[in-house]
Amino acid sequence: MAKPGLFAIRDVGSLIHETAQEGNQLKKAVGVTQLTAMGVGAIIGTGIFVVIGKGSGIAGPAVVLSFVLAAVACAFSALSYAELASSIPVSGSAYTYTYATLGEIVAWVIGWDLILEYGVSVAGIAIGWGGNLNAFLDAAFGVSLPDAIAKSPEDGGVFNLPAVFVVLAITLLLIRGVTESARANLVMVVVKLVVLVFFIVVAFANFGTGNFHPFAPAGVDGVTAAAAIIFFAYIGFDAVSTGSEEARNPSRDLPRAIIGSLLICTVFYVLTTVGALGIATPDQMKDSDAPLAAALDQGAGMSWAAGILALGAVVAITSVVLVIFYGQTRIFFAMCRDGLLPRRLAVVNQRFGTPARLTLVLGVLIAILAALVPLGTIVELVNIGTLFAFVLVNIGVIVLRRTRPDMPRPYRVPWSPVLPLIGVVFAVYLMSDLPLDTWIRFAVWLAAGLVIYGLYGYRHSRVRQAAAVPPGPADGPGQRPGS
Ligand code: ALA
Repeated sequence: MAKPGLFAIRDVGSLIHETAQEGNQLKKAVGVTQLTAMGVGAIIGTGIFVVIGKGSGIAGPAVVLSFVLAAVACAFSALSYAELASSIPVSGSAYTYTYATLGEIVAWVIGWDLILEYGVSVAGIAIGWGGNLNAFLDAAFGVSLPDAIAKSPEDGGVFNLPAVFVVLAITLLLIRGVTESARANLVMVVVKLVVLVFFIVVAFANFGTGNFHPFAPAGVDGVTAAAAIIFFAYIGFDAVSTGSEEARNPSRDLPRAIIGSLLICTVFYVLTTVGALGIATPDQMKDSDAPLAAALDQGAGMSWAAGILALGAVVAITSVVLVIFYGQTRIFFAMCRDGLLPRRLAVVNQRFGTPARLTLVLGVLIAILAALVPLGTIVELVNIGTLFAFVLVNIGVIVLRRTRPDMPRPYRVPWSPVLPLIGVVFAVYLMSDLPLDTWIRFAVWLAAGLVIYGLYGYRHSRVRQAAAVPPGPADGPGQRPGS
């Protein structure tokens, strides 16, 4: 057989088979409630508790429309994620889907890109956690951490200690195992919904319409520019798909969990945003590290409520760090297993049944990022990377329908290719609203990824290696030494 080229395709059947066969198998312990909780756990976090402030600064009260716009943009891609996740229920999310549809080089690009959506965003989420921790300390005890140890150098500090702390704590939790983590996540998700209900009730009890005028001071451009930023608040629904290898009934449960969690979050976001604007002006929120707490404190003059909200946000955001970080470890795991990254990293720890080594390495890298880079820079980079992943996933659905028409699809996107194409248009539209600096950083990131692929992944890829030798009885992608 000729050695496959850059566009080598990972066979879907072998992907699923290998998942079932390998010593590297992860425990199948997760049901639909836990999957939906993973979605909600991944979605509601720093976006609604912190990035909402920046959004309201850009669009004014019309940021409500930005939330709706971003949700609609996500919905189309969510359907594509659901189709691919139900058809290819293995670890790795969009990375694995693209490997099975568009070929290795594209899969590598997306896997590398997903490091932005998952790994880098964990750093951003952790910064939001720190902001709310400080708001809580301030409201409850009248003290807050000095800027030197609570902000990045660009924001006038030295490093962000709270963000580092939460990243390392979650690293340890993930190393201990998914069952415990999923259970802890479920509890935290309940807390976060209760906290948002608390905010919404308090805000509507003190509601005024005065802050809604002028409604859209920056016009339609402001609405779309804010949507490109607060899009961050929706990131995470696809994290459900990264846990598919551990799902008990992936074909039924994944689509339900992905779409269900997106819907739940959209309703909460719109109510929260309307509530926030009912008690505070965009100016009171836009520069705050904890804008919802600021809305209660400065807008409604209720510092006790601000304290409760900030504490709840700390808990809420913790679960986002957990789920998104979990997603990153599973994507990395799949990339290592395929030989595109060193396979040594993907060793499953015997005692905990988790990829402990790679979790630790990622935890340290993310902690460094969280310590030193400001939230705004991270959010923009994460958003462009995620939207790009959406583009590829939607295209993946369309391509796979043509190349593998008979593949079992427990969930099918209705009216394909129209809806996936609309998903592409929305994603590109939001990407086009991000600043040039972000595009340049993104291009540099992708170029670095291609260099690494050329130097390492291209030579160690298991798909390509396996095709270069005659098949033997024990020969499957799982048996080839990759590094
Ligand atoms: N959607 C996640 C958050 O807002 C990333 O924290």
